[in-house]
Amino acid sequence: MTSFDPRLLNRRQRNNLINGLIYPRPIAWVSTVASDGTRNLAPFSFFNAFSFNPPTVGVSPGSRQGIPKDTLANVRATGEFVVNLVSASLADTANSTSAELGPEVDEWDLAGVTPIASETVAPARVQQAPAALECRVHQIIELGADEPSNSLVIGRVLRVHVLADVLDEHYLPRPEALDLVGRMGGDLWAHTRQQFVLPRPSRH
Ligand SMILES: Cc1cc2nc3c(=O)[nH]c(=O)nc-3n(C[C@H](O)[C@H](O)[C@H](O)COP(=O)(O)O)c2cc1C
Repeated sequence: MTSFDPRLLNRRQRNNLINGLIYPRPIAWVSTVASDGTRNLAPFSFFNAFSFNPPTVGVSPGSRQGIPKDTLANVRATGEFVVNLVSASLADTANSTSAELGPEVDEWDLAGVTPIASETVAPARVQQAPAALECRVHQIIELGADEPSNSLVIGRVLRVHVLADVLDEHYLPRPEALDLVGRMGGDLWAHTRQQFVLPRPSRH
């Protein structure tokens, strides 16, 4: 076993170690709108669910040299975002929207995906995504003062969209129908096609 103080590693080593150990991370393909109406779409794998009551998710976009990524700037300005979930068939397309582009570039056009108006928030959702969560910011926690750093955006889920044939009668989605992918370390992605059943221990 080797042990490290991660703070003593360089940025690349730290990134590799954290992202290569904590996986698979689900991917939030986040749609936001700037205060001037410019729309934005980018993937984030510092993403997870933290509660179903109230339905709460967190996503952690970064800043570079004090300049927040467009997604972070937009959620700070508007308090709204949509998390689109990424199926295997959308992985390439979602990845293409992670290119570092100026705020004037429309990632929707770049990726060739279709916006559908949301019901409770201004940012649109991606029609091609098998599910989407309309969210309002609950809290934003700044994770570090040293650059580059990230901000943890905690959002309340106001509305859930799921492909019609995905849910069983108890609202449990069928993974085969969603076919979601996750992110691992480096450029590795993961399928979610191999599962196993492990019933919870029964209470006595
Ligand atoms: C699968 C994937 C996951 C990513 N996860 C994150 C993340 O959690 N946080 C982050 O700051 N950037 C992440 N990135 C990089 C952003 O997508 C990238 O910086 C993007 O340009 C940000 O777009 P924006 O400036 O329009 O918000 C990820 C990229 C990919 C391909």
